[in-house]
Order: sequence, then C-alpha cells, then structure tokens
Amino acid sequence: MTQEIVDLGGPAFQDDPHAAYADWRRTGPVRRAVLPSGAHAWIVTRYEDARRALTDPRLSKRSTPSAESAPAGGSRTAGATPMSASIGAAISRHMLAVDPPDHTRLRRLVSAAFTARRIEALRPRIEQIATDLLDGFDGRERADLIDEFAFPLPIQVICELLGLPQEDRDDFREWSDAVVAGSAAGPRLAPALESMVTYIHALLAERRKSPGDDLLSGLIQVRDAEDRLTEDELSSMVFLLLVAGHETTVNLIGNGAYLLLRAPPSGSGCAPTGSCCRAPSKSSCGTRVRSRPPPSASPPRTWSSAG
Ligand code: HEM
Repeated sequence: MTQEIVDLGGPAFQDDPHAAYADWRRTGPVRRAVLPSGAHAWIVTRYEDARRALTDPRLSKRSTPSAESAPAGGSRTAGATPMSASIGAAISRHMLAVDPPDHTRLRRLVSAAFTARRIEALRPRIEQIATDLLDGFDGRERADLIDEFAFPLPIQVICELLGLPQEDRDDFREWSDAVVAGSAAGPRLAPALESMVTYIHALLAERRKSPGDDLLSGLIQVRDAEDRLTEDELSSMVFLLLVAGHETTVNLIGNGAYLLLRAPPSGSGCAPTGSCCRAPSKSSCGTRVRSRPPPSASPPRTWSSAG
C-alpha cells in the first residue's frame, strides 16, 4: 500500500500532532512528508532510529534548503527566500547548519558559557526578572502573558548574556518573528533578515571599540585575537543565539500555560479559569515540554552518500 505524503504545515497535523506521531510510529519507521517550507523529506518516526540517524555522519546539516537561507528558522524557513549571498552567509554559518569538525569547534567556543554551573548562577537574576514582570500584573483583571511575560523574560536574559541594549528588543521581536515564520512571513522576511544582519554588524563594530565582559565580547576576542572563528561565523553565532535563545522559550511558556489552564495537575490548586495558586512541579513542567515542545522536530538533515 502506498503511504500518504503527510503535510506538516497542514491543519490536520497541526491540530493534533500527537495522534499523527502515534500513527506514524505504528505504521513504519519512516514517513514521507512535505515540510512547511515546501521541501520534501523523510521523517524518522521511532526514538532509537532517530538517535541513530542524528549521529550518522552520512546525514548532514549542510545544504539543506533551510540551512542555506535562514537557518535558525529551521524547517519553517523557505529555501526560496530572495536574499543576497552576503546576508545569507552572515547568518548561515552556525551550529544548526554545519557538521563536525566545524560544528565541534563552534560548539566548544560557546559551551563554556552554557555549563550547568554558569546557567545555575544565572538563576537569581532570572528569578528577579520574572518576579518584576509578574509584579506588573498585580491588581489587574487582565494581562497578556505573551506580551508581558513570555516575550520579555527570555529576551532580557539573552540580551544581558550577550550584553545587548534592552531598548532594541522590540526590533529583535519583529525580525525574529519573521525569521521563525519563514516563508509564511512573505515579503517581511528578506527585509527582516537584512535589518538583523545590519544590526549585528553595527553591534560587533561598537563592541570591538568598547569591549565588556559579556559573551559577545568574548566571542569577538576569540575571532580577532585567536582566529578560531570567521567573521560570518561570528555574526551567525549572534544570530542563532538571539533567535534560538528566545523564540523557543516564548513558545514554551505560552504552550505550558495553555496546557496548565486546560488541565491543571491534580492537587496544584489551579483552577481551569486561570487562577493558579501553586507552582507546578519540575516533573509536571517536563511533561508539558515533551507534550507541546516549542520545536517538535530537529532541523532537517540531508543524505550524503560521500559521508
Ligand atoms: C525550551 C527551550 C528550547 C528548546 C525546546 C530548544 C530546542 C532545540 C533544538 C530542537 C535544537 C536542534 C538540535 C539539533 O541539531 O537537532 C536546538 C539547538 C540549539 N539551541 Fe535550543 N532550544 C531551547 C532553548 C534554547 C536557548 C535558551 C538557547 C540559547 C540561549 C538555545 C540555543 C541553541 C543552540 C546554540 C543550538 C545549536 C546547538 C548545536 O547544534 O550543538 N536553545 N535547540
């Protein structure tokens, strides 16, 4: 029997992805699909096979249509985006779009900033930002969780980590929304990418003049003094951290709150109407991340028989 080619951008899949996943796992190890970008792909449906595929050197992150255009948007970014080669290069040379040994080198350069200890040390500051934002909800009947909490929290953290000015965050939001929407952003996409690259280049020039002790200054040092990073890799790294570092978390908070309000964990004291009294446990959060993950698939890999 010929299997139907599934449309990952279609409403049937989007409305209930878990029913689709269960069906695909039951009916075979791979499934043909059309990605939202329009590209055709095979989906590996089962855990053990996916683990093997993700570590198979014959499957490459290079040369995927999305990787060549606007990689942090992953599969949702169209390959056909009209964009100059220099803009493309300035945002495409990052970890989601390269294989070892380049991937290993790039990963090593930032991994020191993302050790469990460094992240744990950020906890008090992140809690303070979260508390300040929630204080803004006090005494109000209505608040917008996405605009007033889910978006500003991660963008503020990533801006502080990189040492970027807070006042630029609304621009990031506009550009990043377009990048993540990919082809669905239509004519907004190319100007958003161009503005983002112009911004990143200006930021790098400014930070070269007056370095600080932030991650961005550290990466510039690695580029300029040690030559372990090209200029395109440097701008692509900033691009990836900005987009991947906040968009996922905005969606995580939004999806998590939605699921909590629809089905509060028993004994949590949360009413389905939204009056939540006790914080959900870590395990209940973990369950929700798996149930509605911000991205539900890895960026596509391309088969290369030469690998
Ligand atoms: C709930 C939040 C997040 C989720 C669900 C998520 C998910 C993912 C996924 C699926 C990948 C692709 C892995 C692959 O290659 O197949 C990825 C890669 C990556 N993410 Fe996230 N992410 C999240 C938060 C973040 C944050 C906060 C940052 C930065 C501050 C970040 C930075 C990165 C980077 C740099 C990569 C590339 C890593 C590599 O290729 O080695 N992510 N993430």
